[in-house]
Amino acid sequence: MEKKRGQWNTRSAFVLAAIGSAAGLGNAWRFPYTAYANGGGAFLIPYFVALFTAGIPLIILEYAVGHKTQQGAPGAFKKIKETWEGLGWWAVLISFVIMSYYGAIMAWIWKYLAGSFSVAWKSGVADYFYKEVLHLSSGPGELGGFSIPVLIGIVITWAFIYYILRNGVTGVGKVVMFTVPVPVILLIVLAIRAVTLPGAIEGLTYYLQPDFSVLTDPQVWLAAYGQVFFSLSLGFGIMIAYASYLPEDSDITNNALITTFANCGISFLSGFGIFGTLGYMAQAKGVAVSEVVDAGVGLAFVTYPEAISLLPGGPVAQTIFALVFFLILLTLGIDSAFSITESVIAGFDDKWPGKKKKVIQLVCLSGLGAGLLFATKGGLYWLDIIDHFVNGFGLAVVGLFECIIIGWVYGPKNLREYINPISEIKIGAWWDIMIKYITPLILIWSVVNSVIQEFSK
Ligand code: PHE
Repeated sequence: MEKKRGQWNTRSAFVLAAIGSAAGLGNAWRFPYTAYANGGGAFLIPYFVALFTAGIPLIILEYAVGHKTQQGAPGAFKKIKETWEGLGWWAVLISFVIMSYYGAIMAWIWKYLAGSFSVAWKSGVADYFYKEVLHLSSGPGELGGFSIPVLIGIVITWAFIYYILRNGVTGVGKVVMFTVPVPVILLIVLAIRAVTLPGAIEGLTYYLQPDFSVLTDPQVWLAAYGQVFFSLSLGFGIMIAYASYLPEDSDITNNALITTFANCGISFLSGFGIFGTLGYMAQAKGVAVSEVVDAGVGLAFVTYPEAISLLPGGPVAQTIFALVFFLILLTLGIDSAFSITESVIAGFDDKWPGKKKKVIQLVCLSGLGAGLLFATKGGLYWLDIIDHFVNGFGLAVVGLFECIIIGWVYGPKNLREYINPISEIKIGAWWDIMIKYITPLILIWSVVNSVIQEFSK
């Protein structure tokens, strides 16, 4: 008997959930730095080229594959070609790995949110992060028991993810009505406050001043592709799983474009709040902006909190600023966490249909269980190591094989003929060329480059 697949309640629920997945921590802590390090304003050129030659073609592909097959990644590729199920499981495996450490990052955010009320890191943020929050050991070989704050944070995060996902994606459709607009509003508030700080202009100059000479550097182009790929949550099976819950008559290309451009806007906006504040911090410390810039974990949990503790206006103003910043991270991160968990759930639910409740419980429990590694005192080392490999190789490989299966096995024209009748914006033969030649060639280049970089260290 055909079981009825859970569905999004409204089109906006799907679109918001997809934007929620795409707009994650990477928008705040990866995009601004990547732009700064790769030509400032000039980075927008490779970035948009990457969007049109890889990001948009692939998000359309993932939506179409999910929508057409009504399956998560493994079932979807299996339906397209029996022998390709493994590709979907590879995507699910990557999702599982990332979801397990996402819980730890969310845990740190909870801890900082609680600490915001007293600006708890005031007397030394590095000590606060590495000692009080992480209780960091001396290396990955030494796990050294659990950091209690991180452990508690992980449990809270998983309880929350389970609560939202326990009845399928409809729960996600409801929370994203808040978790997508809230960070956007708060990012605007943050940007306004940041750019009116003394020294902000100097920071923004670092973010935006174009240096066109970098455009001849292949690494800058690869950075743009990497950013686009990661930012649109491609190659995780996420967009396939989310699109599999769409009703039959849903538009594909329009939804893909809305997701893409909303995500770009959120990335670009983040840079103002980040670099405005960094400009202030550099001035307050009497150093160049380049001395304080940072990305990723270091930016969010060390540099930026330190900047907050240097802000004018006393403890109340600093607390408000800190709450705004960590609420942004929390709301950006949590719906990315839902999406990545759902990618895993969809994979197993399709494989063993009819036991969705059990699958959800098991997936959440395993995410929590695997996440315990990152709650140990050696957790940060493991997070770095795993993140490096997953992002360097995992995603691009999935994207590459997606292009091969649709471009060379199934036929891009066949998928396009499925997409166009249900979509308002029609895609032309350019899409076939992208999926068949351009996008896979770029992905091969990117994987080969990662391998070379790895061995030339
Ligand atoms: N797209 C998210 C970001 O830019 C990252 C992400 C990765 C989200 C994996 C979900 C899953 O931060």
